[in-house]
Amino acid sequence: MPSVTLSTSKPTTASADVLILGIRGDEDKGDLAETLDLLGFSGEKGQSVRFPSGGLVKAPVVVALALPDEPTAEDLRRAAARGIRAAKNATTVAIALHPAGVDEVEAIAEGIDLGAYRFDTYKTRSAAKDAAPVEIASAVILTPFARQTTATKAVERASTVALAVNTARDWVNTPPGDKRPADLVEAITTHVTAAAGTAVKVSVWDEKRLAKERCGGILGVGQGSDSPPRLVTLSYEPENAVAHLALVGKGITFDSGGLSIKPGASMQTMKLDMAGAAAVVAATVAIATLGLPVRITAYACLAENMPSGRATRPGDVLHMRSGATVEVHNTDAEGRLVLADGLALAAEAQPDHIVDVATLTGACIVALGSHTSGILGNDDDFSETVLAASAAAGESMWRLPITEEMKGIVTSSTVADLRQHNPKPYGGALFAAAFLREFVGDVPWAHLDIAGPSFNEGSAVDYTPVGGTGTGVRTLVRLATELAGSR
Ligand code: BES
Ligand code: MN
Ligand code: ZN
Repeated sequence: MPSVTLSTSKPTTASADVLILGIRGDEDKGDLAETLDLLGFSGEKGQSVRFPSGGLVKAPVVVALALPDEPTAEDLRRAAARGIRAAKNATTVAIALHPAGVDEVEAIAEGIDLGAYRFDTYKTRSAAKDAAPVEIASAVILTPFARQTTATKAVERASTVALAVNTARDWVNTPPGDKRPADLVEAITTHVTAAAGTAVKVSVWDEKRLAKERCGGILGVGQGSDSPPRLVTLSYEPENAVAHLALVGKGITFDSGGLSIKPGASMQTMKLDMAGAAAVVAATVAIATLGLPVRITAYACLAENMPSGRATRPGDVLHMRSGATVEVHNTDAEGRLVLADGLALAAEAQPDHIVDVATLTGACIVALGSHTSGILGNDDDFSETVLAASAAAGESMWRLPITEEMKGIVTSSTVADLRQHNPKPYGGALFAAAFLREFVGDVPWAHLDIAGPSFNEGSAVDYTPVGGTGTGVRTLVRLATELAGSR
């Protein structure tokens, strides 16, 4: 990530390869007015132009971005990222987006670090490397608040959160053959140790321990794979904790569907199916790095969903951690099975709240589109708290209900306690949440279905890159911040 600093310099005199300049509605454009007019810059939302400054300002190239009259933090987060992506070959950039306060400075810093993200680990051809933009080494945010320590702290916070988002993106983008459960355990352990030192403890259950602990959901999903499942538990226990938040993430390292195998086209992006686990792990590390006074216990339920002679069959009954039995109908509805064990363990820890994050259902994408996650839960107040955190973080989410209809179907198995799958093709996101609710006891719980927003199959927009997006991380960090009473 670029190094981000603050300066009180004026945009006209800032020295950098590129000046990223935000222009609000009827703002005086000074010496640039004529050039901007000739380039057809009208100030319409989302508009941007790039031109050589010809000595009008000190920086040799200007990227001008249209801003609303009173930009929100999210407007600025997006504009900063758009500017960074337009600054192509620059090594140094100066960013003048007129932040109204420290929160806006933080959003700009996040936009820089998120917009500069690239995943080129697997690019080896020199032509591809040459065509890739030079990495932006440093970005300076121009603001009169530059000398305030609250602003410096905001930039530090932004870089901690952006590192977490970018780490989650890297994990999602990693090819599925390179992140089978044991590989992902290693990547997680390495990241936790590097970023949080000993502040976050890691414990790993292998398949033998999972059997001893009666985690039949995780084992049932993982048993078709040559690479056995794992449960990773992270704990961050600050002395001054004011709340205990448990996080549970779906970590299917590849979802082939199992014996209920997916058609080829639907399988293509299924390396994304561990995005929930990536988000809870990365967020836990960020929360610890920020030193927030909230105890976190995070569970990453890792398994590879594969068909084989050992795979779980439709009709099999699984004995779950909670003690409940579950009749399997469709091995492609695997996420709820691994989460059920993670949620039961979370509930046993008696936290104040549980949040799970999962790329759970295509039905949620049908309901809300690919840019909005679903929030479902067993406690209206807590769901509203999570919704508010998502809005403050700039992640689009929307509440969906868990209806009585679904409760009835979940408890309608003729051979086991619970039915895993709804025979009717309606309300799939609601049914999945009704199933999960059976495992959380009476702990206030919210479920985030991130199936749509976790992965961008289109082209990069603002701070959202192609591929893994890291969605969920910012909402979780914001939620912990609010539970800590720090905002
Ligand atoms: N991982 C998928 C959900 C998914 C679909 C995530 C598309 C991202 C994009 C999940 O395990 C799944 O296969 N769900 C099934 C459930 C069905 C069998 C009840 C689905 O959505 O079709
Ligand atoms: Mn599936
Ligand atoms: Zn899945």
